[in-house]
Amino acid sequence: MRIHFKALPGKGCSRERPVTVDRLRRTGLYLPAMLGEIERKTAEVRGEWEKGRAGVESLQDLEELRVRFLGKRGYIAQLFALLRTLPPEKRAAAGKLINTLREQIEGELESLKGQLAAKAEAERLKREAHDFSLPGVWRGIGNLHPLTQVRLEIERIFMEMGFDVASGPEVETDYYNFEALNIPADHPARDEWDSFYIDEGLLLRTHTSPVQIRVMKSKKPPVRIICPGRCYRRDNPDATHFPVFHQVELLWVEKGLTMAHLKWIIEVFVREFFGPGYEMRFSADFFPFTEPSAQVHIRRAGGPWLEIMGAGMVDPAVFEEVGYDPEEVTGFAFGLGIERMAMLKYGVDDIRLFFQNHLRFLEQF
Ligand code: PHE
Repeated sequence: MRIHFKALPGKGCSRERPVTVDRLRRTGLYLPAMLGEIERKTAEVRGEWEKGRAGVESLQDLEELRVRFLGKRGYIAQLFALLRTLPPEKRAAAGKLINTLREQIEGELESLKGQLAAKAEAERLKREAHDFSLPGVWRGIGNLHPLTQVRLEIERIFMEMGFDVASGPEVETDYYNFEALNIPADHPARDEWDSFYIDEGLLLRTHTSPVQIRVMKSKKPPVRIICPGRCYRRDNPDATHFPVFHQVELLWVEKGLTMAHLKWIIEVFVREFFGPGYEMRFSADFFPFTEPSAQVHIRRAGGPWLEIMGAGMVDPAVFEEVGYDPEEVTGFAFGLGIERMAMLKYGVDDIRLFFQNHLRFLEQF
């Protein structure tokens, strides 16, 4: 609707002019109508807010609601836009009205947000809850095979006494395995070491003694070594035999060594490995590469004698073979079986258990 009225006389203007909002404001006629309109609209927005607030279920709903009411083009912004239709001196009252609503909405948004966040967190915790009373997944921790443990222990003991650890090939020549150790082809001792032949003159080594030949051939005395390693013999498996087994060979060559040094070394070893309280006995034996040769037994007071190794003073023929002067140096060697040591130490009565690899057996070490 356009309201027309006669222009006031003056300034030579006689034309009728249309009424604008601006002019209405100046006349004061416009005010009550517009103020009432803003109040009404504000109440409407409040009602709308209360409805919206009741339907909020998630943080996303809440955000949509916030944009609808407080966003750049939201209801509150629209209400504020209406203020411009009021004359400046009247804007404060209407502005206060809208501001009160805005603050109410802001406050309630904030507390709704808190409630929803708490609810979401509670749901997440419920969803991700762990039942700590359930039995866990068993992950076995591996451990070293008892034979490895025993080998490492023997190596430790002798390394602490100043011995080096040497090794050699498991496929040996007849020369290193027998010949150089003073066991010629026709020697009856070969029967004891009958083995697996790969080829003419090539076999799986029957003991770790060939390593002492290799070491002595490669360096001048003094020699202080131990040689742990796998050996093979054509034995049928039973409680005390297995075609594969492990030995540790010891060799000490220097000026002035005697059987007494050998005894002392073995005594220290027995005390370290088996513990105190053992007595030791040497009895005569025969090995082509040692002279004299001995078998070493140990026992606890009153217990049975247990054979632990073969030993002896290095035969001069072996020294000559490797180019050492038997008039200048002497030496001794021993060879022990790692399986035998493990059986004695842990009370295992069947060597085959070490090779069957049943976890129930291996787990005990
Ligand atoms: N090599 C011998 C064996 O296998 C053991 C041994 C080593 C004996 C060193 C004396 C000296 O039976």
